[in-house]
Amino acid sequence: MSNTTRSNNKQFKMKKNILITGAAGFIGSHLVRLFVNKYPEYQIFNLDTLTYAGNLENLKDITDAPNYTFIKGDITDEVFIPELFAKYNFDGVIHLAAESHVDRSITDPFSFIRTNVFGTCNLLNAAKNAWKENMEGKRFYHVSTDEVYGALEFDGSFFTESTKYDPHSPYSASKASSDHFVRAYNDTYGLPVVISNCSNNYGANHFPEKLIPLSINNIKHNKPIPIYGKGENVRDWLWVNDHARAIDIIFHNGKNGQTYNIGGNNEWSNIELIHKLCEIMDRKLGREQGESAKLITFVKDRAGHDLRYAIDSSKLQNELGWKPSLQFEEGLEKTVDWYLENQEWLDNVTSGQYQNYYEKQYKERQ
Ligand code: NAD
Ligand code: DAU
Repeated sequence: MSNTTRSNNKQFKMKKNILITGAAGFIGSHLVRLFVNKYPEYQIFNLDTLTYAGNLENLKDITDAPNYTFIKGDITDEVFIPELFAKYNFDGVIHLAAESHVDRSITDPFSFIRTNVFGTCNLLNAAKNAWKENMEGKRFYHVSTDEVYGALEFDGSFFTESTKYDPHSPYSASKASSDHFVRAYNDTYGLPVVISNCSNNYGANHFPEKLIPLSINNIKHNKPIPIYGKGENVRDWLWVNDHARAIDIIFHNGKNGQTYNIGGNNEWSNIELIHKLCEIMDRKLGREQGESAKLITFVKDRAGHDLRYAIDSSKLQNELGWKPSLQFEEGLEKTVDWYLENQEWLDNVTSGQYQNYYEKQYKERQ
């Protein structure tokens, strides 16, 4: 980090115009709701291009809030993004827009390079140019992942903020690359940045290509639950709203140029997790215990499948006072309830209908 940036570690002051990218997606939708409701004095701009993962239905409760604006646009657009910065004079950026699914990155790595690497650089550059006269009080917050650190053995170790980067999938390599560019813009141009690296999130509005929502949906419809390899891989699960709370705290109180790890201290092997989920689903659906577990099907392993992730979030806990608010079992129950109560959301998402419907609504409002 540059000396200028190191000495510029004042708290980020309340500012007016905040750009949140990718807020029609899973984590972004929870974050933008938190900000819109908690900070009426902020104008919140949600920039999202609405890929298959972006769904305005996630945000229907805040669509008409006076401090919320949706902007449909692509972070890789080299003309549009600088224009947007010039038009709205953003004080802060919280960047979540990304291609986020590891399996898709294995079949289509280039769209991950385009969005996650080039798109992030395009935003960094626009912020640098827009803020070059005065960077005081500005903040570029990059939301990243624990996957940049690679994989742990079954040895009780944790990823800390100083763990060496060792990404294995095109997804994690693209996120690692974007993290490096964020730090390079800090070191080279003095851009005030902060980065967080979070473990696996779960909760409402999670796209059903990821393990937990996919399994809930399949169990409900009596379809096979695909478990990669032997199901021994371990993930550290965190409730999505606790991630959003952490981002809020880091955005406002984190130190410029710093990285914060966010995690649930909540390790589950995939097979243990799916058995727990089956138990909950059997109870909620009135099935005999053990019925849903019969759907478990072991399939070919993911290429380059990371064995274990586990986050040490003590820096965030000790320096900024964050801690997870919800026990995993309770969070999983809440998540199952949400999916069972929101079958229409699941049906829309799995059929792709939502894109046509909400895009039409959005155009009608223009
Ligand atoms: P998601 O796939 O649910 O949502 C991504 C959003 O970004 C979508 O709304 C999509 O339309 C938008 N988007 C994609 N490409 C875009 C582009 N070119 N321009 C504008 N918008 C675009 O992802 P998520 O799970 O909510 O993850 C959000 C961020 O958090 C990502 O950066 C991801 O790497 C990171 N992260 C996710 C997790 C997790 O468990 N899901 C954990 C740690 C970090
Ligand atoms: O660790 C943070 C990361 O968590 C985020 O950066 C990513 O954006 C997010 O997608 C998530 O990545 P994972 O690959 O860990 O999540 P996923 O839900 O795809 O898989 C979780 C585990 O379950 C992983 O070990 C692979 C396994 N799996 C996944 C699917 C979709 C299965 O066994 N079967 C499946 O069908």
